[in-house]
Amino acid sequence: MMLPSVLQRRAIDHQPVLAEEVRRLLAVRPGETVVDCTFGAGGHAKLLAADLNGRGRYIAIDRDPSVRPYFESFKRRYGSLQTRLLRGEFSLVLEQLATNGVEADAILLDLGVSSMQLDHPERGFSYATDVPLDMRMDRSAELTAADLVNEASERDLTDIFKRYGEERYARQIARMIGRRRPLNSSFELVDAVKAAIPAPARFGDGHPAKRVFQALRIAVNDELGALERALPAALEALRPGGRLAVISFHSLEDRIVKTFMRDGERGCTCPPDFPICVCGNEPLLRAVSRRPLRPSDDEVAQNPRATSAKLRVAVKA
Ligand SMILES: C[S@@+](CC[C@H](N)C(=O)[O-])C[C@H]1O[C@@H](n2cnc3c(N)ncnc32)[C@H](O)[C@@H]1O
Repeated sequence: MMLPSVLQRRAIDHQPVLAEEVRRLLAVRPGETVVDCTFGAGGHAKLLAADLNGRGRYIAIDRDPSVRPYFESFKRRYGSLQTRLLRGEFSLVLEQLATNGVEADAILLDLGVSSMQLDHPERGFSYATDVPLDMRMDRSAELTAADLVNEASERDLTDIFKRYGEERYARQIARMIGRRRPLNSSFELVDAVKAAIPAPARFGDGHPAKRVFQALRIAVNDELGALERALPAALEALRPGGRLAVISFHSLEDRIVKTFMRDGERGCTCPPDFPICVCGNEPLLRAVSRRPLRPSDDEVAQNPRATSAKLRVAVKA
């Protein structure tokens, strides 16, 4: 199947974030098994598959069925590899892979939405176009952003905007939404946000609805819950010595990854005031570096989506 020309253009336009760093630290070798939990447009996949050099297995996962044409094109290009696309939420698929005895050599999670999802205004991820409030990565999932905005209590909305958007005016915005609902389109939501916040706040630090949209997207797709479940499942699906790379795009995600890697390195779960270890737990992994890797100024200039990216890599013990 040929990729429709609009998709071909987008696939070429898509720039994988921190690509050289991922490639260097995952250090994929011919014959290995790679699990790419966030296949998207296959940007990282092309680089990692090239390192397999015609021998090995590439298991792609994505919850968004619209990645299929990108995968078909990838499969044609790397025909000598064993390739599979598993559609679903990555934490569940990783658990299934581990249960089925798959021993991966390298696992990649490149979190968040893809440029391809953002580029389709009808998916409702962007505040820049007036479309129905949707934001589902998997459009067969039940919960949409409109459901949350119109049905969640003001208290729950406040909590979502605070926790997932770190929004200073969370309570005021939730109250304004409560007063104006039903809100069905992105511009109706943007107007409610603008009406709720003080005038000076409308002009600083990017678009005034940026944090509210981010928060709703995280909640609709349970992004943090999925990440929390995926990290132990990924470790389970790796062979000893296998590498795990995670690219995050905001502090909430990075905190989860950092804590997981720090706890995994420590192994011991005894309370800090115990004089000796009684749990006997061994370290589960070794973090490749204490600090996350950040994109270079050049990468950010070429690909602004990389601005907030952080890469953490660990090796399974
Ligand atoms: C940032 S993009 C990946 C881009 C890809 N690395 C590339 O270079 O083309 C993230 C992708 O992961 C998918 N995704 C996000 N969270 C997911 C989850 N919990 N389970 C499965 N797929 C997920 C999204 O649908 C999206 O296609």
